[in-house]
Amino acid sequence: MKFSLNVDHVATLRNARKETQPDPVTYALMAEQFGVDGIVVHLREDRRHINERDVRLLRELITTKLDLEMSTNDEIVRIACDIQPELATLVPEKREELTTEGGLNVIDNLTKIKSAIERLHEHEIPVSLFIEPEILHIDAAAEIKSDFIEIHTGNFANAASEDEMYEELDRINVAAKHAKKLNLSVNAGHGLNYLNMKDFLTVEDIDEVSIGQSVIARSIFVGVEQAVKEMLNLIRNRTTDYI
Ligand code: PXP
Repeated sequence: MKFSLNVDHVATLRNARKETQPDPVTYALMAEQFGVDGIVVHLREDRRHINERDVRLLRELITTKLDLEMSTNDEIVRIACDIQPELATLVPEKREELTTEGGLNVIDNLTKIKSAIERLHEHEIPVSLFIEPEILHIDAAAEIKSDFIEIHTGNFANAASEDEMYEELDRINVAAKHAKKLNLSVNAGHGLNYLNMKDFLTVEDIDEVSIGQSVIARSIFVGVEQAVKEMLNLIRNRTTDYI
């Protein structure tokens, strides 16, 4: 299972005081040195954290891969086509939300999503759809020629009891297997952290996890190197015996 790091929250901290530091681009380059497999940023329509300068610099400087999270908004699709990330992950976006709140409703928004996928494909950009672990949405994703899905793991991360957590893991397992049968690559993310990762690693068929908040938060206390290497060791060696 690969690990891509989302650096949005470094930009959130930078923008809180309209400063130039901490720079998400510098953070991403450090994280790459410490072994992450890719960098993820969400270019929101309101640019509340990551901005175009960040995305363009990341495009030029990172040596792993860039996963651009984005809505299907025309202007954002145009920027993505110009920047050419290695992956475009389509997510639902609401102005008032603190973070992405759930997966795309692929069925209700089929035409809009399909047209964004087609435009991105014209520029040879593979596309992923961030969705709930639900068969109907996975089938729809395959039908409109998405290359990947990213399974929303928020309900797993926020489960109120162990039973609920295991139920959610089962749903994710079934969904991932189904997606694989349809030749979709399977990513997963939202709310994954150093505590719930061990349980999450029991899920088979996940190609890559996309993690942000927990790693950025931990790095404030222990530094970027340790925070990144702890998560990598957890994912690769399933051990909390960190560095
Ligand atoms: N995947 C998607 C589609 C997201 O929107 C986010 C949050 O930006 C993440 C993964 C990472 O979630 P977290 O910051 O909770 O690790």
